[in-house]
Amino acid sequence: MNQSRGGPRCEPHRHWTGIIERYREFLPPCEHVISLGEGDTPLIFSPRLSERVGRGCEVFVKNEGGNPTGSFKDRGMTVAVSRAIDRGARVLICASTGNTSASAAAYAARAGIPCAVVLPAGKIATGKLIQAFAHGAKIVAIDGNFDDALRIVRELGEGNELAIVNSINPDRIAGQKTAAFEVVDRLGDAPDFHLLPVGNAGNITAYWAGYREFQTRGRSTKLPAMLGFQAAGAAPIFHNKVIENPETIASAIRIGNPASWKQARAALDESKGNIDVVTDEEILAAQSWLASNEGIFVEPASAAPIAGLFKSTKKIPERSRIVCTVTGHGLKDPDTIQRRIGKLESVPAKIDNVRRALGF
Ligand code: F0G
Repeated sequence: MNQSRGGPRCEPHRHWTGIIERYREFLPPCEHVISLGEGDTPLIFSPRLSERVGRGCEVFVKNEGGNPTGSFKDRGMTVAVSRAIDRGARVLICASTGNTSASAAAYAARAGIPCAVVLPAGKIATGKLIQAFAHGAKIVAIDGNFDDALRIVRELGEGNELAIVNSINPDRIAGQKTAAFEVVDRLGDAPDFHLLPVGNAGNITAYWAGYREFQTRGRSTKLPAMLGFQAAGAAPIFHNKVIENPETIASAIRIGNPASWKQARAALDESKGNIDVVTDEEILAAQSWLASNEGIFVEPASAAPIAGLFKSTKKIPERSRIVCTVTGHGLKDPDTIQRRIGKLESVPAKIDNVRRALGF
């Protein structure tokens, strides 16, 4: 780059090349790095959320919608797919409520190998299904829910042919813990509280592993209390029992028997945290509130910790530092919002008509 002409300078050492290059010393070895530049997502100070919690609390939103496929899954997928390639895997497979399949399909395309996804029929948000299709995944919809899909994928993956890239693969959890590293690196220490949506419970497990690891290595002085939120109709950990027919508008976390249940329970107990539920109404209200008050548009599942924050405000001590992870971009799941838009009536293309329609 010609600096004398005053153009932008390209500093190669500062160029972001994904979480494996950035946090290699904390990750299992990866020889062939399959990356789309995931990670380094914004940690956004949120003045209106902070004001709503009040009492000197500071709230930050870790916006994982900024990842290459629009969700946090890419952090785990880069590690899982890189290591699958290292081991000579020829086909990837996953069960999914949508985001894992979008991410797996993208990283498989990048790696140049096929990807198979098993999904609950009729329960995948439009944007996610489009992503899996666009990246060329082989898509199979089953007459069952996510828990059925994962059971089938586990069985299919028993041979050596298919590499499972769900979060039952420990490489996924290893990659996802880098989000906690980024929070500590950005804030200079761990927050007091970390709020997350909980579905298959891999992400809360990963964050807790990340926070503990950074504290052990002297990179932070404290650990946050982990606060997990499940949808009221899909809350097996909260109720401490398998939910046979989970139901929620937040299709990403429509899960009745989470794979990382035990690990999530340990994270909640060890961190002196808590699991709670939020209703679909609370989720949708929080989604709209965040979009219109903070400029952050997330999918319904990602609004669960925001709804949870509104619910738990009184239990949070004054001057706390709070981080909420929002896990996926709002454009992935446009259907509920689209229904609210209804039909846009057009007006003649004249300034007076536009002025009248605007009401000013
Ligand atoms: N938020 C979003 C947007 C998700 O897609 C998921 C999980 C979660 C939260 C919950 O994370 O499972 O680690 O507790 N989605 C998975 C999928 C199940 O198949 O895309 P978790």
